[in-house]
Amino acid sequence: MQILQGQTLTFTDNPFRVPPEAAIRHERHGAVAIEAGRIVAVGPAEEVCAAHPQAPVSDYGAALISPGFVDAHAHYPQTAIIASWGKRLIDWLNHYTFPEEARFGDPAHAAEIAARYFDLTLANGTTTTVSYCTIHPESVEAYFTEAQRRGLRALGGKTCMDANAPDALRDTAQSAYDESKALLERWHGIDRLGYVITPRFAPTSTPEQLSALGALWGEHPEVLMQTHLSEQHEEIAWVAELFPEARDYTDVYDRFGLLREGALMGHAIHLSPRERDRLKEAGASLIHCPTSNTFIGSGLFDMDGLMREGQRIGLATDTGGGSSFSMLRTMAAAYEVAHLRGTVLHPALLWWLATAGSAHALHLGDRIGTLAPGYEADLAVIDLASTPAIAQRAERAADLWEVVFPTIMMGDDRAIRATYVGGRQI
Ligand code: GUN
Ligand code: ZN
Repeated sequence: MQILQGQTLTFTDNPFRVPPEAAIRHERHGAVAIEAGRIVAVGPAEEVCAAHPQAPVSDYGAALISPGFVDAHAHYPQTAIIASWGKRLIDWLNHYTFPEEARFGDPAHAAEIAARYFDLTLANGTTTTVSYCTIHPESVEAYFTEAQRRGLRALGGKTCMDANAPDALRDTAQSAYDESKALLERWHGIDRLGYVITPRFAPTSTPEQLSALGALWGEHPEVLMQTHLSEQHEEIAWVAELFPEARDYTDVYDRFGLLREGALMGHAIHLSPRERDRLKEAGASLIHCPTSNTFIGSGLFDMDGLMREGQRIGLATDTGGGSSFSMLRTMAAAYEVAHLRGTVLHPALLWWLATAGSAHALHLGDRIGTLAPGYEADLAVIDLASTPAIAQRAERAADLWEVVFPTIMMGDDRAIRATYVGGRQI
């Protein structure tokens, strides 16, 4: 048993549906009690400490104790090519991404980058990641091995491609099925790891491969499926050429059994009304990747409209198409993108998206993303005065959200005082 003391912040409801004040639980002098990797109590510091007088206390003063951030879409193999200059999606993939991903058949390279990736995510207070790996089973082994070693809740899968990719990065419909199945059976549900069936996107899979992966998902409905959807106009036009029989991009996945609850659709920017209706009806999760969407020049996600429709939405860095490992930077970009569409997102909405909202999008909302008894003790402790610029702004603040918002807009890994995974500070 141990106790962390500080300012605690968590959500009891979805602040997109009820006013932020009614959706949060905040204690200015709060505490979280942790035992055996789980949260056992959250509340005012005096109460929690009085109930557990023997427990050692780590006092973080005015720092904010939050659920760890949940990054719902990333590419760990792109760690070393983040912030590569000057290309739009398809050229960026061909020029920067594919040559780097081709190196992940080498287990030593995959292990090195996986370790570097988790060093970076944890330094940024991110305690759960959902990552694409590469076509190489070695890349999946490296990802899960490193996550397991650190006790993380992590999700990911082999990226499948059997078309429109270099020879060295192509599998087949059969090998994608066989290797994905073997990796799923080896890793899914081990410790806190989860397998995710991962066709990269429609242009890099033949109908046979999409069909094989749809069949695999049918045999394993307990896992998630991730792919990319409607990120850039050129991509959407290409999909229409490649799959002329499909009604639209969403329908390509639908036809192959790849659209239902548990589908994580990365980007989902340029959607027709029919697609939006169908995604909602199917119960798919839409994963907003704002730093990527601005960096690669993709477009402005319709957070307001999609939330009003009741879509399930998560937030993600999309590293290395995204330009930061930080979910704070990602919240800032989500704020700016919404602003460009005429919507002002309250800071509570941004914080929810990065914690409980993303957890909900991953169907893990009952285990992570919230500070409450029974939840896994994955926490980020955040310094709300981490730089002189933030500190002088926060000093003037009149309420919690005025203190938090400058950290959202200007914060980065310097704001992360501590990260706890399964109750262990790492
Ligand atoms: N679409 C297909 N693959 C990718 C990728 O690696 N990154 C992004 N941003 N979009 C993609
Ligand atoms: Zn992506």
